[in-house]
Amino acid sequence: MQRTLVLLKPDCVQRGLMGRIISRFEEKGLQIAAMKMLHVSPSMSREHYAEHVEKPFYPSLEEFITSAPVVALAIDGLNVIEVVRGMLGATNGLKAESGTIRGDFSSSRQMNLVHASDSPESAERELKIYFAEGACDYESVAK
Ligand code: CMP
Repeated sequence: MQRTLVLLKPDCVQRGLMGRIISRFEEKGLQIAAMKMLHVSPSMSREHYAEHVEKPFYPSLEEFITSAPVVALAIDGLNVIEVVRGMLGATNGLKAESGTIRGDFSSSRQMNLVHASDSPESAERELKIYFAEGACDYESVAK
């Protein structure tokens, strides 16, 4: 069993797509181990997107991700990192295939609705940012 960090971004929350997107993960048979709504601070954004901080699009990404609440989920399943990334589709909603979450609901590169960890190392690092030790009992859910 594996665990990943999924973030429903401000555009997802504001467009009222949370339920539909969480349902897709549930329908796939994945387990929602923890979930919380929060406001991402600029320092959390820099920590989460450390690999992008020097990129030209980063200021705009930080402005977007800190603009309104997000929902963080810890999701469990077999090969869940690869499975969820496949369900999201390409980063740019305009290029994502129909049938994927971004392909069906997004037409933007930045406002692409959902973030998901891209490797076991990223998942471990990102889960710690959003689910600080003691902040929830997701560790008790079977891994
Ligand atoms: P995400 O999967 O959260 O990982 C990094 C995010 O940066 C990405 O989704 C997009 O929201 C955003 N992003 C990636 N590339 C670009 C880009 N070229 N221009 C603007 N935003 C981008």
